[in-house]
Amino acid sequence: MRIFKPSSTHLLLLSLFTLLLTFAIASEETPIYSAHVCTSGSYYQPNTTFQTNLNILLSSLVSNATLHDGFFRTTVSEVKGLFFCRGDVTPSLCHHCVTAAASNITIYCTNQTESIIWYDQCTLRYSNNSNLDNTFPSVNLINVESVPDSDLTRFNNILASTVNDIKHEVMDSNSGKKFATKEVNFTSSVKLYTLAQCTPDMSTFDCDICLSMAISTLGDGKQGAQSLLPGCNLRYELYPFYNVSAVSIQSELTPPPPPPSSVVDDLIDVESLQFDLAMVEAATEGFSDENKIGQGGFGVVYKGVFPNGQEIAVKRLSVTSLQGAVEFRNEAALVAKLQHRNLVRLLGFCLEGWEKILLYEYIPNKSLDHFLFDHVKQRELDWSRRYKIILGIARGILYLHEDSQLRIIHRDLKASNVLLDENMIPKISDFGMAKIIQEDHTQVNTGRIVGTFGYMSPEYAMHGHFSVKSDVFSFGVLVLEIVSGKKNTDFYQSNHADDLLSHAWKNWTEKTPLEFLDPTLRGSYSRNEVNRCIHIGLLCVQENPSDRPSMATIALMLNSYSVTLSMPRQPASFLRTRNPNRLNQGLDAKIN
Ligand SMILES: *[C@@H]1O[C@H](CO)[C@@H](O)[C@H](O)[C@H]1NC(C)=O
Ligand SMILES: *[C@@H]1O[C@H](CO)[C@@H](O)[C@H](O)[C@H]1NC(C)=O
Ligand SMILES: *[C@@H]1O[C@H](CO)[C@@H](O)[C@H](O)[C@H]1NC(C)=O
Ligand SMILES: *[C@@H]1O[C@H](CO)[C@@H](O)[C@H](O)[C@H]1NC(C)=O
Ligand SMILES: *[C@@H]1O[C@H](CO)[C@@H](O)[C@H](O)[C@H]1NC(C)=O
Ligand SMILES: *[C@@H]1O[C@H](CO)[C@@H](O)[C@H](O)[C@H]1NC(C)=O
Ligand SMILES: *[C@@H]1O[C@H](CO)[C@@H](O)[C@H](O)[C@H]1NC(C)=O
Ligand SMILES: *[C@@H]1O[C@H](CO)[C@@H](O)[C@H](O)[C@H]1NC(C)=O
Ligand SMILES: *[C@@H]1O[C@H](CO)[C@@H](O)[C@H](O)[C@H]1NC(C)=O
Repeated sequence: MRIFKPSSTHLLLLSLFTLLLTFAIASEETPIYSAHVCTSGSYYQPNTTFQTNLNILLSSLVSNATLHDGFFRTTVSEVKGLFFCRGDVTPSLCHHCVTAAASNITIYCTNQTESIIWYDQCTLRYSNNSNLDNTFPSVNLINVESVPDSDLTRFNNILASTVNDIKHEVMDSNSGKKFATKEVNFTSSVKLYTLAQCTPDMSTFDCDICLSMAISTLGDGKQGAQSLLPGCNLRYELYPFYNVSAVSIQSELTPPPPPPSSVVDDLIDVESLQFDLAMVEAATEGFSDENKIGQGGFGVVYKGVFPNGQEIAVKRLSVTSLQGAVEFRNEAALVAKLQHRNLVRLLGFCLEGWEKILLYEYIPNKSLDHFLFDHVKQRELDWSRRYKIILGIARGILYLHEDSQLRIIHRDLKASNVLLDENMIPKISDFGMAKIIQEDHTQVNTGRIVGTFGYMSPEYAMHGHFSVKSDVFSFGVLVLEIVSGKKNTDFYQSNHADDLLSHAWKNWTEKTPLEFLDPTLRGSYSRNEVNRCIHIGLLCVQENPSDRPSMATIALMLNSYSVTLSMPRQPASFLRTRNPNRLNQGLDAKIN
């Protein structure tokens, strides 16, 4: 960690320095070096193809520095690399910065196959082959001057709310750059200046994770700090350290946000979601058996095709419910608003006479269990695919729990409720059913157990108590199944003394976690990721709900090696003592 001193000691003097610094920024075109990290471990030999390719990569980064609005990612054979410039810098300063970074990175990190260098105005990195993690490695630079004690609490409060605001502004920014700055008054003469940025190709979710990590390392009470990560960075100071005039020009160019949607819009939305029964019948050839693709507790699922060729999955609800038409429409419209890359999208509904039907997007590849528990097909799921599937499921559930305004608990997360699309991207199905069929909304006793044996948390299976933490339990079971390629319920049915969770636990405590790994993966896997997944899986299946991590924490753990995981305790063991027949397995709705 490098510590730098600001040019002033007294807040009162800061305004003077503000002027000087503004002048300095405006008159100079010099990139300012901040830090670098040579990821240790592997080296290349001079005069090899690697070195040649690295040099080609670095020069194409430099030659593209003015062409792509300050961000460029490229690959030369096995060498990957990218640069991105701070949102406010001019193309010519960006070019200078990338030039300096490219020429100095090979000097600071001689022979290294993976390195990163940060300047005030740009970030540049390269790596041999491996995926470029957005949050590792990271560096913090702290301004050692403290804010006076008398102002400390107020300062920390202002800082915390400002960095949180700016994070959301970056995540939501719809301009080409994921970049924002924000100035707020600290005292009558001193302002707090903040800046944050994510690489423009990062998803809202990943940007959120990255900036949350940046914020968590800022420390407190200092007059300035910066958190440098590969995919994002965040900085605050009590003087303007960016080009304030460039930033104000940009904010004038940014289009105003759309007006909040009115009640009228919502009504129109619901209209557009409602389909005629005749149309659904035509699409499914009169709910013919040939079109049947699944059967579950909520009803039969059919494949359908609209006249325009669009394929759909049609769920004809068999649930008798006293719920009125208005509630059904409203709840379906709400669930249709949940849109996420890792959720199966609800396209609409049909409500005529006794018929209550839900229309979903059709996902071409089958559900995860179909691949995972099949001796032949499980080979198609190599480790990197499995890891991506785990990440995708975590993101989908996190969205249900936290990002959507509805805060939905899935209640029946399992391998057969995770569909895989043609790119093997996981899509969670069957969420929001409790809302649509108007089960009770409380967090305590449910009249009916909706879950599936083997995935249910002890408190849900035994007492009907559900919460976000019961989904976390199911997620843990699913992760252990994905790692081992074994079905949790198989253990019980074959009267094995041990279930999957006990195996995971024993392998973990005996430090043989790789013995737990699906044998078809043993040729190629990431030891680190496998260990981490088993560890996370065990934390999720803890008996006591409050010992289980939240989905947000899980997503962080999966995204970053710098998060330290707590030690799991022996997981819930209720499976061995409960009678599975007591629980209705027929409730399981799946598309396959
Ligand atoms: C780059 O990675 C590949 C495999 O990922 C490896 O075979 C090669 O030796 C690496 N090159 C260097 C210079 O480390
Ligand atoms: C690399 O090649 C250059 C010229 O092609 C040569 O001068 C230099 O000695 C070589 N270095 C090594 C370590 O082989
Ligand atoms: C930009 O990058 C591409 C791809 O790496 C490279 O082919 C090209 O030469 C670079 N320079 C310019 C000026 O486009
Ligand atoms: C980096 O490289 C440039 C030349 O491209 C040089 O002018 C500069 O002094 C070097 N050092 C730093 C710390 O940027
Ligand atoms: C780089 O590799 C060369 C050849 O293997 C070696 O002589 C040199 O010491 C290495 N430099 C560093 C900084 O590791
Ligand atoms: C911040 O301070 C400036 C000058 O002291 C003042 O003009 C401005 O109104 C203040 N802004 C807010 C939001 O209080
Ligand atoms: C600051 O931004 C303004 C407006 O874009 C620009 O004219 C000026 O050159 C910039 N100064 C620096 C040092 O980048
Ligand atoms: C399903 O996934 C597999 C990947 O193993 C792929 O080969 C196949 O084409 C996919 N099927 C469809 C219908 O997309
Ligand atoms: C480790 O896990 C494997 C696979 O689930 C199991 O066969 C083995 O018995 C376990 N080892 C221990 C010590 O429990």
